[in-house]
Amino acid sequence: MDGNGRWAKKRLLPRFIGHQKGLNAVKRVVSHCSELGVRSLTLFAFSTENWRRPEDEVNKLMGLFLKALQREVGKLDENNVKLQIIGDRSAFSEEIQANIELAESRTADNVGLVLNIAANYGGRWDVVEAVKKWQEKNPHSPISELDEQALGQHVCLAGLPEPDLLIRTGGEQRISNFLIWQMAYTEFFFTPTLWPDFDESSIDEAILSFSQRERRFGKTGDQVKSC
Ligand code: FPP
Repeated sequence: MDGNGRWAKKRLLPRFIGHQKGLNAVKRVVSHCSELGVRSLTLFAFSTENWRRPEDEVNKLMGLFLKALQREVGKLDENNVKLQIIGDRSAFSEEIQANIELAESRTADNVGLVLNIAANYGGRWDVVEAVKKWQEKNPHSPISELDEQALGQHVCLAGLPEPDLLIRTGGEQRISNFLIWQMAYTEFFFTPTLWPDFDESSIDEAILSFSQRERRFGKTGDQVKSC
């Protein structure tokens, strides 16, 4: 969800206003994806590297995160959305951690859209944690037994389909340590639209582009067509 700061700067507003508008875009996108029947949506809200931002911005982002957890969970629940937070939550305040647990348990049995918020998340962290979890679960197994299938069961989002589509807003064309394991075969869609301007029609445009791609998963185009 890139471009909040630039959106605000263009309007001579403080960066935080861009993040507030970004939260409105989150609500629009979640609601639209839910209506479209998207199975799983993962939003990159705060990376392990975002702690390097000015203290004031980090504090305000934490405040927004807390407020969103407290105020939006009821509506998510009403709409059958299952909320999950992925990332290392131990760095968050106790209040945020408690609200994460409340929001997750309240929506745990919902069977609609699975909404994953990546917070203090990094793809490399995810892979390292998965190795540790595998070792904890298999303390007597030699490391030679660890394979892609076994590791894949311990990364975040295990059990959900691998992402079909990555959308990056704000004009950058990089992955920035997002779901590096899970996105091995994901289609990428880059757009100059700044995140606060991202709306229902932007989602539709990305999905239309995705629907026109030929996904080969290593096979030839002829093989795929004959399936
Ligand atoms: C990146 O834009 C955005 C963030 C680091 C924060 C994302 C947060 C929100 C969208 C609002 C809160 C969301 C939740 C789920 C509580 P940037 O600041 O890097 O923008 P720039 O590239 O224009 O500077």
